[in-house]
Amino acid sequence: MKFHASLSFLSGFAVMIIVGWIVFPWLLYSTKEQPIQFSHKVHTGETVGLSCEECHAVGEDGRFTGIPPLEKCAGCHSAQLGTTADEKKLVEDYVVPNREIPWLVYARQPENVYFSHAQHVKIAKIECERCHGTHGSSDRLRPYQENRISGYSRDISGALTVRVSSDSQEEMKMDDCAKCHSERGVYDSCLKCHK
Ligand code: HEC
Ligand code: HEC
Ligand code: HEC
Ligand code: HEC
Ligand code: HEC
Repeated sequence: MKFHASLSFLSGFAVMIIVGWIVFPWLLYSTKEQPIQFSHKVHTGETVGLSCEECHAVGEDGRFTGIPPLEKCAGCHSAQLGTTADEKKLVEDYVVPNREIPWLVYARQPENVYFSHAQHVKIAKIECERCHGTHGSSDRLRPYQENRISGYSRDISGALTVRVSSDSQEEMKMDDCAKCHSERGVYDSCLKCHK
């Protein structure tokens, strides 16, 4: 009797775990592929050797340039340099017709959040990796996951159930911002981060 009770408890528990960790997140997020694959490793490593600032910089006016426009890519990729399918797509679908590439931004915050790279990178001297993990040396782009209810990226609105991984790419939520601020004695009020 006792054995059966604990067995049914265990199987009920197993179902709960599967629903909570796998089925529910799978229903909650839709998955999109980036328009083309971009390898940071190829461009920032030995092959091309560009620095991050060549493509992402805080300008004189304190504004962060973000993802570089097509013009930057076209400077080198006006015609195909190698033989990869993604570069062919870059040239044929974007460079030749002069169409901007619709990149999906993993760290994109809701409209009502204020975030300044200048404050964090220039003034507080925080490394890109602290917030973005290894993206700057990655070879492939992971799929972008969008929360079906809020429309936000999973990186900022994920972990609704339990935060299973301690992947730094998930450290973009309000609690993560607040945690570092309290460690470094940055005084927070709602209106500092919210417009
Ligand atoms: C040749 C230009 C180029 C260089 C050099 C470059 N990047 Fe990028 N970066 C891009 C493009 C294009 C994207 C958009 C595609 C993507 O997500 O990777 C991007 C996206 C990113 C993102 C993604 C933000 C998000 O949340 O979606 C991060 C972080 C980033 N770059 C960091 C770096 C770092 C760190 C370096 C230096 C080690 C670097 N990049 C060098 C072109 C560049
Ligand atoms: C300074 C020159 C330079 C710039 C700027 C540049 N690239 Fe490249 N890119 C290269 C070189 C060199 C290669 C290697 C070609 C090969 O042998 O495949 C390459 C390879 C690629 C490839 C195929 C290889 C791979 O694995 O990804 C893609 C796709 C690509 N670049 C996209 C971009 C995009 C998008 C931008 C603009 C954000 C950009 N590149 C900016 C020089 C550049
Ligand atoms: C303190 C955390 C933090 C640091 C440090 C940081 N970022 Fe970001 N980054 C963010 C957040 C948050 C966003 C989303 C901003 C938004 O949506 O308004 C973002 C967005 C981006 C984007 C996409 C920009 C866009 O608007 O399209 C790129 C590219 C990027 N970061 C690159 C970098 C690079 C390169 C560095 C280092 C020089 C860096 N970041 C340092 C938190 C950070
Ligand atoms: C790794 C630590 C760290 C993380 C993560 C971080 N910040 Fe900050 N932030 C700082 C520091 C340090 C300062 C103070 C910079 C200075 O000296 O002005 C700051 C300043 C700010 C300010 C200006 C505050 C003021 O008093 O004027 C805003 C707004 C802000 N951060 C928003 C954010 C948001 C939004 C996020 C999350 C997406 C975030 N920060 C993540 C360290 C961090
Ligand atoms: C250090 C920066 C920071 C401070 C301070 C802060 N927030 Fe946030 N808040 C964020 C970020 C980043 C997000 C988006 C990511 C997320 O949802 O976790 C967010 C999201 C939210 C959301 C959900 C917004 C949406 O569009 O879905 C609400 C509501 C909110 N914050 C309320 C508050 C209130 C109330 C306070 C003051 C007690 C506050 N926040 C203080 C950074 C901050």
